Amino acid sequence: MNPAEVLQLLETRRSVRQFKQDSLSREVIEKCVNATRLAPSARNLQPLEFVYVDDAELVRKIFPMTKWAGYIMPQGNPKPGQEPVSYLVVLENKEISDANFKYDVGAYVENFLLACWGFEIGSCWILSVNREVLQSILEIPAKYEINCVVALGYPAESPMAEDTNDDIKYYKDSDDRLHVPKRKMDHIYHLNKIHEKR
Ligand SMILES: Cc1cc2nc3c(=O)[nH]c(=O)nc-3n(C[C@H](O)[C@H](O)[C@H](O)COP(=O)(O)O)c2cc1C
Repeated sequence: MNPAEVLQLLETRRSVRQFKQDSLSREVIEKCVNATRLAPSARNLQPLEFVYVDDAELVRKIFPMTKWAGYIMPQGNPKPGQEPVSYLVVLENKEISDANFKYDVGAYVENFLLACWGFEIGSCWILSVNREVLQSILEIPAKYEINCVVALGYPAESPMAEDTNDDIKYYKDSDDRLHVPKRKMDHIYHLNKIHEKR
């Protein structure tokens, strides 16, 4: 594996909220879920399961259950005709999970986002979702709790990360491009003792 390519994959992934309407290959998504399945898991309990939703009618029903880009609402919402084409719904199996399952969610979902990005599939991790209604739409039994969903599709926008000194709120510029401020290396990375500069 080429380290430069791995770093590039990690560094260029951005949350995408405007999508082309081309459908995604189930075979590709299955590969991405397989890479997700192999993520680290506390006590190796592996309490997470996934429902991939690409049925057009269900996808149409899920969209109103989701909330987008809170800092710039409604500017950051997917525009009509640029909604997600599918979703991965992340489930906690409560018969298996313990108090640490949320760490697993972080590792698993990031694996999935990156695997998708490797296929140039854009994604947005969504915690603001109406779980109750979604659970009933997808006929998910009570032993599962919906943790989050990942919205998917090929990107119809190119958000960019940029270094920030303080303000972390993402914004759109006059060309409707999303800028995503990231705290600088100097602010978040310390060597040996926290006050030492690298
Ligand atoms: C746990 C979690 C929950 C999130 N929930 C939402 C959400 O409900 N809606 C949304 O539009 N974006 C959501 N996001 C995406 C963040 O807004 C996004 O990751 C952040 O702005 C940084 O942008 P980046 O992913 O391009 O680096 C979520 C991200 C994480 C990690």
